[in-house]
Amino acid sequence: MKHHYFFVLFLLSITWLACAQKSEQKETPESPKIEQKADLHEGMDIPEDNRISLDLLPKQKRHQLQNMRSHLVAVQTIVELIAKNDFDLASKVAHSQLGSTTEMKLMCASFGNKDFEDLGLNFHASADHLSEVLKTKDPKKSLEALSVTMNYCINCHANYRQ
Ligand code: HEC
Repeated sequence: MKHHYFFVLFLLSITWLACAQKSEQKETPESPKIEQKADLHEGMDIPEDNRISLDLLPKQKRHQLQNMRSHLVAVQTIVELIAKNDFDLASKVAHSQLGSTTEMKLMCASFGNKDFEDLGLNFHASADHLSEVLKTKDPKKSLEALSVTMNYCINCHANYRQ
């Protein structure tokens, strides 16, 4: 009788162990994060990137992106300075960071694409104008001029890629 009791207890503990293992396996998450990322674009209609490629070398690419990131910083700085009524500094930033400096002109010409170069030069000329308008300390006119300059950012990004 005593032997039977131990045998039943032994069977019960084996069953319990097997169940515990099974339920542990079930709780393992089935979809790791990486799959969720891929799923996000499923069924989405993302158009092809048909922009003109500038066929840049790796070093040119890094230089261009570095330059672009500083353009973004310049735009943010100008907006902040307009809000703070510091038009003189805003004008200087527009001229030195976005205007037609020798460095910018050389940069635009270095990509070997005439249409891109012209667009770039017109963009820098718009920043020269922005720099002049900022000197008038008129917030409305300044924002209008900044908007014109930013339309060049949009236009170029819509048409060209690295
Ligand atoms: C004459 C063309 C041109 C103009 C004007 C231009 N960009 Fe760009 N920009 C590019 C190209 C080309 C790229 C690379 C895009 C790609 O390959 O997808 C780029 C990329 C960028 C990037 C991405 C940087 C990174 O590190 O990935 C930022 C930010 C950017 N531009 C900001 C600006 C801002 C802000 C302006 C205007 C104040 C501006 N750009 C004006 C051509 C231009």
